[in-house]
Amino acid sequence: MRVAVVMVMMLGLTVGSAGSESADTPPIGTMAQIMRGIYFPNSNIIFDVQMQDPGAPADTSSDDGTVTSSFSGIYTGWQVVENAALVLAESTALINMEGRICENGRMAPVQRYDWQKWAREMTDVSWEIYQAALRRDQDEVSELTNNLAEACDSCHRVYRSNAQQNRMRCLGTGVILPP
Ligand code: HEC
Repeated sequence: MRVAVVMVMMLGLTVGSAGSESADTPPIGTMAQIMRGIYFPNSNIIFDVQMQDPGAPADTSSDDGTVTSSFSGIYTGWQVVENAALVLAESTALINMEGRICENGRMAPVQRYDWQKWAREMTDVSWEIYQAALRRDQDEVSELTNNLAEACDSCHRVYRSNAQQNRMRCLGTGVILPP
């Protein structure tokens, strides 16, 4: 009886907190950290498809005893490319989160029309790459990496710091396109 009551309480607590967490959890990392931790490594996996056939047998000779190398043979080949594309597609939700701060302490301009447009482009091109990866089409993925690089670049041209253009990070003048 006592166990049952505790279980019901735990269940209530879990359901309650799961609901509020998704709505109230504020962003934790800066925009730059999301770029370093998610955008950079996952897009590099996709860019590598230009030079390396993901379907080719993996090189398993470099097991140095680390956890990473010990488990490097579990998810391999095209599945790695699929996963990278999906993570990039879904990460639009992360960079669009209200309250995300840039490394310079300013709020990321996630509400601006051009930001949202380029973030959306990331999802669209990543989705296309995912589809091409499912078809195991190295040429098509390689071709699509141009669109991926373009999607990164469009946003960076306006919102990422650039020494030559002397822009502050996450500030930019912002080209406001008509909605
Ligand atoms: C919608 C806008 C947007 C898109 C799309 C975008 N970025 Fe960024 N990126 C930024 C902003 C803004 C910064 C500066 C963040 C800061 O200063 O906190 C940045 C910074 C970076 C940095 C530098 C992090 C550092 O060490 O300072 C890297 C690397 C990066 N982005 C990679 C990428 C890649 C790769 C893609 C495409 C796959 C991409 N980004 C797509 C907005 C974007």
